[in-house]
Amino acid sequence: MTKPPRISEPVLRIQPYVPGKPIEEVERELGVQAIKLASNENPLGPSPRAVEAIRAAAADTHRYPDGSAYVLRHRLAGKLGVAPERLVFGAGTSELILLTAHAYLTAEDEGLTSESTFPVYAAGILATGARLVETPLVEHAIDLDGIAAAVTRRTRIIYLSNPNNPTGTWFSASAFESFLNRIPDDVLVVLDEAYYEYAERPGYSRSLEMVAEGRNIVVLRTFSKVYGLAGLRLGYGVAREEIVGAIDRVRHPFNTSGLAQAGALAALDDAEHVRRSLEMNRAGLDQLSYGLDDLQVSYVPSIANFILADVGNGDAVAGALLHLGVVVRPMAWMGIPQAIRVTVGTAEENRKFLAALGETLDARREQGLAQ
Ligand SMILES: Cc1ncc(COP(=O)(O)O)c(C=O)c1O
Repeated sequence: MTKPPRISEPVLRIQPYVPGKPIEEVERELGVQAIKLASNENPLGPSPRAVEAIRAAAADTHRYPDGSAYVLRHRLAGKLGVAPERLVFGAGTSELILLTAHAYLTAEDEGLTSESTFPVYAAGILATGARLVETPLVEHAIDLDGIAAAVTRRTRIIYLSNPNNPTGTWFSASAFESFLNRIPDDVLVVLDEAYYEYAERPGYSRSLEMVAEGRNIVVLRTFSKVYGLAGLRLGYGVAREEIVGAIDRVRHPFNTSGLAQAGALAALDDAEHVRRSLEMNRAGLDQLSYGLDDLQVSYVPSIANFILADVGNGDAVAGALLHLGVVVRPMAWMGIPQAIRVTVGTAEENRKFLAALGETLDARREQGLAQ
């Protein structure tokens, strides 16, 4: 056999992404009926209007999509109150994370982010050959002061998740503004607001106004979460035209499908689906919080659609839950080995998770294993 081609050094340094296990895989391998609370998906499913629009758009699948996403661009721009030229679309915000790194970093530069945050930031930075610099969390939250202090002359890009995945913590618009005032103008700050709609807190964000003020930021949002369209792959960025232009240089022209554009467009008009999704999430966050309190499991208060819970040994507990048909995410690979992250599900799914967690922790106590 010939030797495989040599992988580039920067790419070898990327830690492979560990996705949540698909339900089908768990059911096939373990022979149990499973629920998945592992990937921060919307338990209500997609908007029925989006599903209908995707079906209708399927008849045009022999055509390439509109690479500029004209109709969606104008509709979304109107809804957000931003100029259409300030939008850029990606196959999920994940693609836009990679594209921003690609557009702004070279092997001589540094990309900065937090530890224990969305791993695609680190992957994007490393893939360009740039140096990855990560600052530790402080009390489970992203340390804006620490990040500002870590900026050097070589820093070209900073990635921030607000709320942060996997901790569910957040920083306020005023904290972000003070942070930004400490960052040199030639550094691009990517503000990932994938969970924006869930973050119903006064003072949470004024990111779009900050784009309008001409700040060097890209605001990222997605149709994967509250709109329930994770399988379609559609996210967007909002930034000044020069930044959109730079991302467009590395974006391939047909990166978002016609089905995705049609589904997203219809989902935007389904305010009722968003309202019900948010209501379900609020109730679910309460249900999980009270349930974890009852089980005497500590957790980080979250404003997103997931909760980080300290179960002592995340791998062992997530493994045991899998055998009971509940898929959650162990967090060792994100640097928090004592924790699992559970997505807010339907009331019934949350109940099933809490019952399975209670059973698992009881069994571990009986075996004399630390919680
Ligand atoms: C902080 C954060 N950003 C981005 C994403 C990816 O979203 P998308 O499906 O739009 O690529 C996720 C998904 O879990 C996330 O947690």
